[in-house]
Amino acid sequence: MKGNNKNMFASKVGAILAAAGSAVGLGNVWRFPTEAGAHGGAAFILIYVIFMMFFALPVMITEFAIGRHGGNDVTHAFEKMSGGKRGWRWMGLLPVVSGIFVLSYYAVVAGWTLFYTYEALVDGFSGKSSEDFAADFVAFSSDSLQPVFWMAVIVAMTCGIVALGVQRGIERGAKIMMPLLFLFILVLVACSLTLPNAGDGMRFLFHPDFSKVDGSLVLSAMGQAFFSLSVGLGCLCTYACYFRKDVDLMKDGQSVACIDTLVALLSGLIIFPAVYSIPGLQPDAGPPLVFITLPNVFQQVFGGVPWLAYLFSLLFYLLLVMAALTSSISMLEMSAAYFHKNLRLPRPLAAVVVSLVCMLFGTFCSWSFGDWRDVTLFGMGFFDLFDFFVAKLIMPIGGLLMCIFVGWVVDERVLRAEITNNGTLRSPLYPLYRFIIRYLAPVGIFLIFANELGLLDFLK
Ligand code: PHE
Repeated sequence: MKGNNKNMFASKVGAILAAAGSAVGLGNVWRFPTEAGAHGGAAFILIYVIFMMFFALPVMITEFAIGRHGGNDVTHAFEKMSGGKRGWRWMGLLPVVSGIFVLSYYAVVAGWTLFYTYEALVDGFSGKSSEDFAADFVAFSSDSLQPVFWMAVIVAMTCGIVALGVQRGIERGAKIMMPLLFLFILVLVACSLTLPNAGDGMRFLFHPDFSKVDGSLVLSAMGQAFFSLSVGLGCLCTYACYFRKDVDLMKDGQSVACIDTLVALLSGLIIFPAVYSIPGLQPDAGPPLVFITLPNVFQQVFGGVPWLAYLFSLLFYLLLVMAALTSSISMLEMSAAYFHKNLRLPRPLAAVVVSLVCMLFGTFCSWSFGDWRDVTLFGMGFFDLFDFFVAKLIMPIGGLLMCIFVGWVVDERVLRAEITNNGTLRSPLYPLYRFIIRYLAPVGIFLIFANELGLLDFLK
């Protein structure tokens, strides 16, 4: 395949950065610390890393294989890989549907980060007390217009990049934003580790308390691993359609998983030392952790040096915005690709149509923090419902189905040829990978669900 085909990633680095861009996102910098904080820190992280290695990473490689085998059309990739078995055809719609669901609620939080970047830029944080931060966040997030506006701005930015196409939009965006993101993270970690009581934050992150381990922790750790690597929705299938034939899928998967885990841990190293630097603050503040607790911390700790407080806040929220954007781009692409290729809409129009749908659902999700607080389904508001549906249902079930598909339905020779680039790569881990997707991952994912549904209670 030629590198100058503008519907493919031009380079191997571009492919890795785009996939890493999808993986590294609010899931790392916002959701991971929130979940780790809520589940006692290190024990959660340990289980999360195990899920990453043995479940999420193999599913990621599986998605890569399905997508690249499909060659530029994710909707028919499943059918093609199964050798024409029509029963698996409907799986091609998975990315279309889940792209809309995930972007709709993700964009709400992404919008918050954009608003906070704006606030940081105009120095809106200085002189505020911790009560002000809490009250302002609640007032902002429950407002019926403001957060909807910022959500729409983020979706519009995403739309602009996706409309530019695979090379000029997605790949170039990742090549610019990912290195910047790393730079910001390193600066912020260095600052955070010099704060008073940074050791307590480190201990929270790295000293496990196993008494905290229960079924809900395990399910959350699995959900987080899948969410963080963007697997189970068909997002990486979509990107892998644009991979060149000489990309080493196993190696790329490993690189992306390493980058993603590293960014999550480094985010923990920014956030928890900061939280512990002020006596009395708790790491389990929940979702508002990075919107209430942190800006307050930045003001208090650097209170004596206002320009440092300004810089630290601005860098942190810019980091969040970039992380969110590289992920939201991949979410929009999942659905837009379908409208573009299968319904033959021009790419920009396809991106706009999907964006408008996401803005509508995103508005509902945003309102569930305010006016629609009491509108619930299965006991959850829209935002929580979308998050639960995506991270705790579609991702593991999608991952399970993909493992069964590639492990049991697809001809083994086809899979081997895809993973080893037609026998030109050695891929020594291939047998282990195949064992995991045939047995370990499906059984593991199933057991966790069964436990959650109470089917294993007789064992207790
Ligand atoms: N992995 C992304 C994050 O960590 C979220 C994501 C989920 C992106 C699903 C694409 C698809 O923020």
